[in-house]
Amino acid sequence: MVKILAFSGSARKNSFNQAVATAAADAARNAGAEVTLVNLGDYPMPIFNEDDEAASGMPDQARAFKELLLSHDAFIIVSPEYNSSYPALLKNAIDWASRKQSDEKPLEAFRGKTALIMAASAGALGGMRVLVTLRMLLGNIGVNVLANQKAIGKVDTLMNDSGQLTDEKTLSQIAKLVEELATTTQKLK
Ligand SMILES: Cc1cc2nc3c(=O)[nH]c(=O)nc-3n(C[C@H](O)[C@H](O)[C@H](O)COP(=O)(O)O)c2cc1C
Repeated sequence: MVKILAFSGSARKNSFNQAVATAAADAARNAGAEVTLVNLGDYPMPIFNEDDEAASGMPDQARAFKELLLSHDAFIIVSPEYNSSYPALLKNAIDWASRKQSDEKPLEAFRGKTALIMAASAGALGGMRVLVTLRMLLGNIGVNVLANQKAIGKVDTLMNDSGQLTDEKTLSQIAKLVEELATTTQKLK
């Protein structure tokens, strides 16, 4: 069974992107995958600094997040667009997880993994520009990013009062993408 880790690039309480990650995780479970949904806010880690790493090693929360990446075959990453790129929260977590420890191969948490990337914003473009930068980043560290992706514009109009993504058309598009992630990951395993 394919193991998928889903998370967003936002730790905001009512995050649109985390709501999309939650919907995608549900869809992945329905597609038969084993899914772990996490919130980066539950893994607070300092801004990466090589001096701190040399002095104290990898902080526990960074190690815990990296262990999650290592133990899954594929990722669903839903990122806010901050000034046309990814938020520091997401980049910092990836930077920590990219650090090699003991007998690991370089970039072991990422190389050969598969990813579906999405973005959500109340703006009309849905954060489509962050997908360009996120695709480049993940590709450069060895992740096979699905060609198909989704930027969800005006996402605030597609949710219910409890902050869940409820728009049927969007949910069905996400379900298709998630199925593709599961199938592609299975083929590559
Ligand atoms: C520093 C900053 C920069 C932003 N830049 C963009 C942007 O370039 N494009 C966009 O669509 N929204 C931008 N936004 C608005 C975010 O899309 C909005 O805050 C969104 O709700 C964040 O995602 P979340 O709901 O998952 O936390 C920006 C917000 C912040 C705080």
